[in-house]
Amino acid sequence: MTKRNWILGAPLLAWALCAPLAGCRDQSGYAIDPAVVEKPLPTRDAPVDVALAGAGGEIFQKRCVACHKLGPGVAVGPDLSAVYARREPAWIQAMMLNPDSMLRVDSVARALLYQYQVPMLDTELSEPQARAVLEFLRAQPTPR
Ligand code: HEC
Repeated sequence: MTKRNWILGAPLLAWALCAPLAGCRDQSGYAIDPAVVEKPLPTRDAPVDVALAGAGGEIFQKRCVACHKLGPGVAVGPDLSAVYARREPAWIQAMMLNPDSMLRVDSVARALLYQYQVPMLDTELSEPQARAVLEFLRAQPTPR
């Protein structure tokens, strides 16, 4: 392949590889109010921001369902339906935003990697997007 073809072909190739994950690199389309990150992370029992959780659900469908179920059973990674009951909000957010460093330094994340044998993918969420997904996960009915 000539250099010019490669320059033209690379974005196409990236798109083709990404398409099965339904827009895993697509940052557009989830315009979430950036001010959301200025609020403290919500505790488990705080009222759910329904609009934010809805936006988070859309992101979850596109970027997470390839590897995570919301209900019994393992996909590639763990069932996330009750993740808010077993982990701290800041930990869940860190796992979404910086899985690579979490898998290096955090003992819980490392134990999960040992168990599942596949590294959690960095889906390149912005912080507001991660907050939306966090709200969606928090809104899941969980056994308490
Ligand atoms: C390529 C597959 C893959 C994708 C895509 C993925 N994950 Fe993961 N995730 C994993 C695996 C595998 C683990 C278990 C830890 C490990 O092995 O690294 C994990 C672990 C987690 C954990 C910790 C679960 C627990 O039990 O504590 C959270 C939270 C999480 N992922 C959230 C997400 C969210 C939210 C998305 C979408 C934005 C996402 N993941 C996308 C594979 C993935």
